[in-house]
Amino acid sequence: MKQVQIQRWLKESDPKQLRSLFAEADKVREKHVGNEIHFRGLIEFSNICQRSCWYCGIRSQNLSLERYKMNRQQILEAAQRAVDLKFGTIVLQSGEDPDLDIDDFCETIRILKRTMNLAITLSVGERSFDELAKLKIAGADRYLLRFETSNSDLYKKIHPPLPSKPNFDRFEILQQLDELGYEVGSGIMVGIPGSTWDDLMEDLRLFQTLPIDMIGIGPYIPHPSTPLAKTVGKEFSNEDQPPNTPEMALKVLALTRILCPDTNLPSTTALETCDPEKGYENGLLCGANVIMPTITEMKFRGLYDIYPRKAGQNRLAEDLILRIHQNLKEIGRVPGTGPGMAPRFVHRTFER
Ligand code: 5AD
Repeated sequence: MKQVQIQRWLKESDPKQLRSLFAEADKVREKHVGNEIHFRGLIEFSNICQRSCWYCGIRSQNLSLERYKMNRQQILEAAQRAVDLKFGTIVLQSGEDPDLDIDDFCETIRILKRTMNLAITLSVGERSFDELAKLKIAGADRYLLRFETSNSDLYKKIHPPLPSKPNFDRFEILQQLDELGYEVGSGIMVGIPGSTWDDLMEDLRLFQTLPIDMIGIGPYIPHPSTPLAKTVGKEFSNEDQPPNTPEMALKVLALTRILCPDTNLPSTTALETCDPEKGYENGLLCGANVIMPTITEMKFRGLYDIYPRKAGQNRLAEDLILRIHQNLKEIGRVPGTGPGMAPRFVHRTFER
């Protein structure tokens, strides 16, 4: 697709035209990743975070938030729920906890790999090459690190660097993850205040050129206890910027499917949060083939407060699967089996 066409699609608002874009993405999805919907069990094992991201509710400066950290037993119990639900993958996610004991965490990963037949995805923030290597050797298969926006000035503003690691660059970490043999996930938030249409074009270009296999795309959702929420519609925003609507995110998702046909694309929790009745389904009809429902123990869910009213806080994964199942049976989608590796990862590994 030509740049001008991408530009036009990003700004398209005619429902009939959009239906044709989404139908095209759905066709590409079926051809390249098939009809399986892969479920990943999300285990939010700690909300402790040293960062002060302007958009995220678990930022360290949010002093009103009670902090928690699951112990090994609690993580293993959560993982067992994924096995019981017949999920092939778990995602161990947390804030960027500087006190995460990597050796202890590696031992948890080893136990998980020994006792359960699961692919393990980690999402634990910016880590050193040595730590990432240790975690890979312990058995981690995949790693998620969104770059959030390709606009580096905006990124620096909303994701202030730490004095202890001033030069940590997310693109470099994505390269390192690839080097280490991880299946790599990244992604963006759509409609960040201060972002531009050109930034979105660049985001889409990066999706095609970075060594990434899964791409998470969700609308930015303002969290009242964060600085960025206070700028919405004010001086920080451009007059003409991509909106943070579900429709805008769906357009970016559909274009990503067309431009990166062999990647795994989740229908994100942020989409479901904006439309709790059919947010996931909308994503699945616009090119997505993955859903990552939380299976975190109920008592911790509300504390993993990255944005307000996050979908899944009071709902069992069983009920969600039932709903998705019922809605999508008619159009021939089926729950995935096995780890659900992205074809792009297989291609990249093969071509290495
Ligand atoms: N709105 C939408 N997505 C958010 N995330 C964090 N805060 C928000 C927010 N306010 C996303 C980021 C992060 C992922 C774990 O959650 O993209 O990478």
